[in-house]
Amino acid sequence: MFLRDFVDLTRPFMLEQFTPMNSSQLIALDARDGDSAVSFSPPAQRAGLELSVVVPTFNERENVIPLVERLRKALAGISWEVIFVDDDSTDRTVDVVRDLSINDPRIRAIRRVHRRGLAGACLEGILSTSAPIVAVMDADLQHDETRLATMLSMMRGGRTDLVVATRYSGDGSSGQGFNRIRQAGSHMAIGMAKRLLKVETSDPMSGFFMVRRTLIDELAPKLSQQGFKILLDIIASSPMPLSIGEISYVFRPRIHGESKLDASVVLEYLGLLVAKWSRDLISPRMVLFGLVGLSGVVVHLSMLRLLLTAGLPFAAGQAVAMLFAVVSNYTLNNALTYRDRRRRGLHFLTGMMMFAALCSLGVLAGTGVSSLFYSQEPQWWLAGLAGAVIGAGWNYITSSMITWRR
Ligand code: GDD
Ligand code: MN
Repeated sequence: MFLRDFVDLTRPFMLEQFTPMNSSQLIALDARDGDSAVSFSPPAQRAGLELSVVVPTFNERENVIPLVERLRKALAGISWEVIFVDDDSTDRTVDVVRDLSINDPRIRAIRRVHRRGLAGACLEGILSTSAPIVAVMDADLQHDETRLATMLSMMRGGRTDLVVATRYSGDGSSGQGFNRIRQAGSHMAIGMAKRLLKVETSDPMSGFFMVRRTLIDELAPKLSQQGFKILLDIIASSPMPLSIGEISYVFRPRIHGESKLDASVVLEYLGLLVAKWSRDLISPRMVLFGLVGLSGVVVHLSMLRLLLTAGLPFAAGQAVAMLFAVVSNYTLNNALTYRDRRRRGLHFLTGMMMFAALCSLGVLAGTGVSSLFYSQEPQWWLAGLAGAVIGAGWNYITSSMITWRR
């Protein structure tokens, strides 16, 4: 009901937008395009498309229409489009976008299946447009769309590569949209980014920014698809220092739906920090794999202790504890490290067997290497470490290439 009212309201406006070019305009375009046999004349309202707003969505059905209404108001007089990039939301967010786009071609939907990730969704949206300037903003109305026009005017001169909408300078604030814990977490994350990566921006975690598309075209192969921190990744991955502008805004509370930021997003963020800090020598996936591996050691030792106190003989206790650690590592890697390639149902079980078999080979390889090492250089800890590195490397490579291959 609401949707139909809304579409009717937009109709007179759309008719005006669809006025085709007259024949002299078409000829002029043909003449300019001298050497190509077929020339394409874009519809009038798309000529000079200046700004694309990329909005990642996951279960944001109720926010789509209010957001589009707000964009229409905020971007009056600007040639814009909005691209919703949806990760196959269970609430069919994408259907709402498609309903709108039938009557307004400035609205587009990209539906991604079997994939999750805010950063990857934004990247895909940005790479899909030909607008020279791209804004990224959340769908949930927490970002202040009335800032977009000023951000665009800051970009227009061509001297600014990136404008960050910040909650942490000038009149900006995050108190309305975040509870105390999220505020403290956000401050800590920013502190780490500033210290480790020396980024200068006051809000490197912002999900609200505007950027030159060609910059992303260039950086795309380096950018991580996972996690929330696309802005930090862009700043940290650029080989040249960027000219960054800032504008403050008040982060609004979320009204419909809920936040998707969970523990795995925090871990992915730590992974990204380490990856960028190591100048991409270590990938975020490796960091997660390593953290899961460490948790496996804890699981193994606590289980072993528990079983030994319960009176099990050492060999039996060790075998059961190791089995526990393998299952726990597999499950965590499936949920976190390889979240984007997650195995489900029967594949979950076959994957677990594959993982266990490959890890056993890793143990053999590690034992072989450490024995060889020990025979050359009888330092127990050095030989043990060499074996562990080989075993872990083997596990990581076979996990990436076999168990969770693309
Ligand atoms: N396509 C897609 N895939 N979209 C996603 C995914 C995903 O896996 N996860 C979240 N989103 C979308 C949401 O639907 C929403 O439009 C936007 O990304 C932001 O997600 P929220 O879950 O609302 O994030 P938040 O409000 O908790 O976090 C905010 O603050 C962070 C910094 O502290 C956001 O502005 C983040 O971008 C920001 O990094
Ligand atoms: Mn939000």
